[in-house]
Amino acid sequence: MAVLPITVYGDKILRKKANKVTEVDLKTIELIKNMFDTMKNANGIGLAANQVGSDKSIFVVDISQVEDYEDTKPIALINPKIIERSEKKVLIEEGCLSIPDVREEVRRPESITIVYHDTDFNEHTLEADGLLARVMQHEFDHLQGVLFTDLISDDLKKKYKKDINRIRKRKIEIEYPITEDMDYQLA
Ligand code: NI
Repeated sequence: MAVLPITVYGDKILRKKANKVTEVDLKTIELIKNMFDTMKNANGIGLAANQVGSDKSIFVVDISQVEDYEDTKPIALINPKIIERSEKKVLIEEGCLSIPDVREEVRRPESITIVYHDTDFNEHTLEADGLLARVMQHEFDHLQGVLFTDLISDDLKKKYKKDINRIRKRKIEIEYPITEDMDYQLA
């Protein structure tokens, strides 16, 4: 088990588009295991690879600790692509392990269809709604270099400016390890 430091707002890799995974080798499997460990340690429900300094197109989700979602299995999605989004959109509050203590409502499609590879590199299509669809859209955005705070109104962006600057400068107290500087990249 390895808990990796989590990249925070301002870290360059959070703004990079992820690269497609062409083969699932032992390093990729280890990365995915470490992503689950890191997410769990931080009490998160989703984590994208660039949040641990990797440029691979992978995210993990585990919402089984959330009420009413106990039966939802933890899942790793490799090369995820959202192929359908419902017209109906809903407002749900979001947070992000890379933007600690900032929470705000974001409007997104209520349900999605997503294709991805599993760790055996088999392709799957998954329909998700509710919290699962929400987390997957948030994590999918991470892989495009997009953060949920990009999607809120200008007024709200202003409201959180100070908090975000404190995060950038690491003048924050959090219970899980974060990167030491903005150039962090996984070796
Ligand atoms: Ni996030």
